[in-house]
Amino acid sequence: MKVLVSDSLSNEGLEILKEHFNVDVCTGLSEDELVEKIKSYDALVIRSGTQVTQRIIEAADKLKIIGRAGVGVDNVDVDAATKKGIIVTNAPEGNMISAAEHTIAMMMAMSRNIPQANASLKSKEWKRSKFMGVEVKGKTLGIIGLGRIGSEVAKRAAGLEMKLMGHDPFISEKRAVELGVKLGTVNEIAKEADYITVHTPLIKETRNILDDEQFGLMKKGVRILNCARGGIINEEALERALESGKVGAAAIDVFVEEPPFDSPLLGHDNVIVTPHLGASTEEAQVNVAIDIANEVVSVLSGGPAKNAINIPSVKPEAMAVLAPYIRLAEIMGKISGQLVDGNYEKVEIRYNGEISGRDTRSLTVSALKGLLEMALGSGVNYVNAPALAKSRKIAVVESKSESAEEYSSTMSIKLTSAETTKQVAGTVVGDEPKIVSIDEDRVDIFPAGRMIFAKHINKPNVIGPCCLVLGKNNINISGMQVGRSEVGGVTMMVLNVDSYVSDAILDEVGQVPGILSAKLVTLLTS
Ligand code: NAD
Ligand code: MLT
Repeated sequence: MKVLVSDSLSNEGLEILKEHFNVDVCTGLSEDELVEKIKSYDALVIRSGTQVTQRIIEAADKLKIIGRAGVGVDNVDVDAATKKGIIVTNAPEGNMISAAEHTIAMMMAMSRNIPQANASLKSKEWKRSKFMGVEVKGKTLGIIGLGRIGSEVAKRAAGLEMKLMGHDPFISEKRAVELGVKLGTVNEIAKEADYITVHTPLIKETRNILDDEQFGLMKKGVRILNCARGGIINEEALERALESGKVGAAAIDVFVEEPPFDSPLLGHDNVIVTPHLGASTEEAQVNVAIDIANEVVSVLSGGPAKNAINIPSVKPEAMAVLAPYIRLAEIMGKISGQLVDGNYEKVEIRYNGEISGRDTRSLTVSALKGLLEMALGSGVNYVNAPALAKSRKIAVVESKSESAEEYSSTMSIKLTSAETTKQVAGTVVGDEPKIVSIDEDRVDIFPAGRMIFAKHINKPNVIGPCCLVLGKNNINISGMQVGRSEVGGVTMMVLNVDSYVSDAILDEVGQVPGILSAKLVTLLTS
């Protein structure tokens, strides 16, 4: 396997990659160069320097994973990667302390005019009154985004005896209390804070979260920080607020366009800037390089991705319980897909019993993968299965119930097409997937290989003639399971067969008196 590293990466990470793969490090490639180069690679490792565009992704025929050594994936077209079935993964923890420390450093430097005073003295000036500063103690710091970095900033600012306000729609009141943060809206923070720092991802909802309206509400002399992503604060609005004197100072590490050589912000004496240095510490670069290298090794060796952006990730401790259900879900998806003819319209996936209390997203994705793989081939994987279902207008409905009957956990897939509906239910026994019912028929099937599903009347002289048909066509039967029903009732027989069964032979089986239908179902992908 081949790995392309297109931004600089610490040696510690490169060494891990080199132990397993052929690694090429080529930095500073243009989009055209990457479009050409990417074709032969299985993994692409980047930092923030490489823009992984749709064009690059479309050209990447072998690519399985894009690994971002760092947090932000705004330089990757994640939708395009998802459609192509490429895992996008990041290393979100390795640089959070460095980014939080940089934010605090910028806040202190801005409060005491350290960069300006440094430049002044080095140009042989001795101007003590010009660089009068302010204390941060007792001042209110508004933190927008209280995730990994925002929380670390809060802890450190609490140590500086600042008052803390915060806004994050996804954190609980309990967590805010733990951090000593008073929660409020963005506009409430704008009105009350002396310092405002942003620590959200750059997404539709957070772009320009501080704009003219918010600057209008702020106290005169407010100090603004952005060590997250350019664009979270509207740079033109910030510039207007600096011009008007509303904003007293700003400390900016990240810009809409990097490098920001044409930005008017650089012309303001009260704006201090760094060239996207939040994660630039020896420790952070080693951490993210090691984390992303291990992630690439895991994925290219067929293992899970711990920090995938575009597939549900499963924590190792949960994996022990979920792994056999993930297999069950995929098998049930394959079986349902082959029992139903016509274009699929709706998949209803239900979890019953203990499994319903777990995070079942990875099971649902596996069921969709199994289902669509049979129709669309090997291009379907855990990454693109939900997107493919959506693009084909297949409605996916998930439901859960704690109640369970015979087994402590079961899952069922009800698949509806324009022509028919089938419901398959299964469980895990030991670590083995088992199908327990098909529609209303109760069965005990340990699914494997190729199987003939034959619905029949439970009466003498049905099973034998079916076996004769297969025997005379030289098809070996390696297993047989017959569903439970009273004599004369309708039930399901499953015959495991060792070779392919043609439509003509299936028709012959279907004509045996007492057989109502016969379908070949295969779990083999080739
Ligand atoms: P995170 O995912 O842990 O935290 C982001 C938080 O933002 C989450 O808690 C989320 O709930 C919150 N959020 C989402 N939408 C929001 C909204 N509309 N309003 C308020 N909060 C919202 O991410 P993180 O690891 O803390 O990283 C934060 C930012 O810092 C990212 O943009 C990342 O790219 C950037 N970063 C920059 C550097 C650097 O070198 N300057 C280094 C590391 C990370
Ligand atoms: C990140 O998102 O991790 C930072 O922007 C740091 C980097 O550029 O890698």
